[in-house]
Parts: sequence; structure tokens; C-alpha cells
Amino acid sequence: MTFDPQAATRTPPKKVIFRIKRYDPEKDKTWWEEYEVETYRGMTVLDALLKIKEEIDHTIVMRYSCRMGVCGSCGMVINGMPRLACQTQISEVASEAKPVIELEPLKNYPVIKDLLTDFTKFFNKHRSVKPYLIRKNKEEVEKGDAEFLMTPEEHKELYEYTLCIACGLCYSACPVAASDERFLGPQALAYVWRYVSDPRDEAWKERLEAVDVEEGPWSCHYAASCSAVCPKMVDPGAAIQRLRSVLIKYKLGLFKKKTAKKAVIPKEQVKPKKPLPPESKLVEGVDIEALDKAPVEIPVEELIS
Ligand code: SF4
Ligand code: FES
Repeated sequence: MTFDPQAATRTPPKKVIFRIKRYDPEKDKTWWEEYEVETYRGMTVLDALLKIKEEIDHTIVMRYSCRMGVCGSCGMVINGMPRLACQTQISEVASEAKPVIELEPLKNYPVIKDLLTDFTKFFNKHRSVKPYLIRKNKEEVEKGDAEFLMTPEEHKELYEYTLCIACGLCYSACPVAASDERFLGPQALAYVWRYVSDPRDEAWKERLEAVDVEEGPWSCHYAASCSAVCPKMVDPGAAIQRLRSVLIKYKLGLFKKKTAKKAVIPKEQVKPKKPLPPESKLVEGVDIEALDKAPVEIPVEELIS
């Protein structure tokens, strides 16, 4: 998604009409409702929704948490495009010529109520691709005293994909997900690529074999609408294409994964500690050497009182 960094500095129309698609699950009824909101410079769509909820109609239901584009929970369709409500300035989506903003729940998810959608299937797909580093030597991981080093180039290769906040906007924009609910979707497939391209991961073969199915990357039509709406500039469309290319090479026996990194003990743990300068031992009433050996524990009661 292209951002307009100047949007927060522009004054939006003084009054904006919010047309909100409502849904009542008890009556199975859908309707549109309009609310007029007085705006201010820097106001986001989420700010306006909270104002409506507080001052006009407290029955509106939506989901949000961080209010700063981090938790990924406030996704909704804003003027026809999946966006994060907390990251969308009113001045980006309304103008003096058209001071109207339409809000709908995200597409491709079941609607629970009003703007609130059910992410259960989406998160099940996310979980199904094992979105974490897998090492064969469990002890090496559990011991936790070593690091898996990467070069800056290797990090650059996958960094973009580590920015995903699982907001699900890409899934909402995906035309394949709209017609086939078995499709793993851009978010889960981008995660597969993120770990296949990670030189520290040792389960790349299993990952490639698991997604070599109809509902995997082969179903993608490369509409690229997923990449167009991503609020974190991740490019899931490109990840799916890379995954396809690697899968073909793998099936032909031509794919060579870089050898998995070995765990190394961090240098600071290997190096002997520098002795403390003599003056540092002179703090009255404090045994600095003992502090160095054992961390200070402050009882919880003391923190509360
Ligand atoms: S790839 Fe982008 S749009 Fe898709 S879930 Fe991650 S952050 Fe959201
Ligand atoms: S409220 Fe967290 S991303 Fe919008």
C-alpha cells in the first residue's frame, strides 16, 4: 500500500459522513447506517469510530487494540479497500468534494457483528504452516545459551517478511481466497517463504513438501492485490512466486538450500569478564561483586507499595 506521509498534516473536511455497514446476527439483518462526525487534523478512521461509539451510538461493534498499526486487529474495508482503521487518516480517504467514508467488514471472513470478523480459519491456516524456526537439535534450542548468526545479506533477504503483523488485509483482498476457502492464502504462504529462505531453519524440505498441494502456491492467480493492500509493505505476492520457483527447482533436484547455521556461543559469554575497577568496589553498603554474580530480585510487594 502506498502511504501518504503528509496526510496527518492536512486538515480533513470539517464534517464527514460515516456510512457503516451494520450486521445483527440475532436477526440476521444487514443495513447501512450514517453518522456525522466533526473531525480534526490528525484524526484517524479509528478515532472517528470511537467518537461515534462514545457520543452517538454505543452499539457499533469493531475490534481494535494498539491504535498504532502494530497489533493488526482493526482491519476493515474503508471506501472499498482493506485498511487498518488506526493507520488511515480521515484526510486520506475523504475530501471537501466527497466528505463521505464507507466502512464495511473485511471480505473473505465470516462477519460476527457490524465491523467485527471471525479470524479463526485465518489463524488456523497461519498455524498450519508452523510459523516458527525449526531446528533438529532440540537441546540446542532449549538450552538457549547460543545464537544462530546470519550475515546482513541473508537477513536482508527475509527481513521484509518478518514485518508481517498477521492483520489479514491481504487475505481479504485475495480473489482466490474469495472463491476457494481451502486456499492457504497470501499471509500463510508468505510465512512459508520467510522460513524456507531462512538459513537457520532446518525444516525447509518438510515445508516445501507440505505446500506442494492444490491449495498451496499453485492456486495463486498473481492478481497481486495482497501486496497492494499490505500496511507493512510486505509483498506476499512476490513470496508466493519465489515459493513456486523454488518448488519447481526442488522437484527437479536443482534447489540447493544454504547449509543450516550452526549455533554459536555469543562472544561476550566466551570472553572472560573484565575485572571491576577498584573504585567501583567502594560503594558504601553495596557488594558490587555479589550483584554481578546474582541478579537483584525485588519482591513484588515492594514494587506495588
Ligand atoms: S502480509 Fe501484510 S497484509 Fe498480509 S497479514 Fe501480513 S501485514 Fe497484513
Ligand atoms: S488497533 Fe492495532 S493495528 Fe490498529
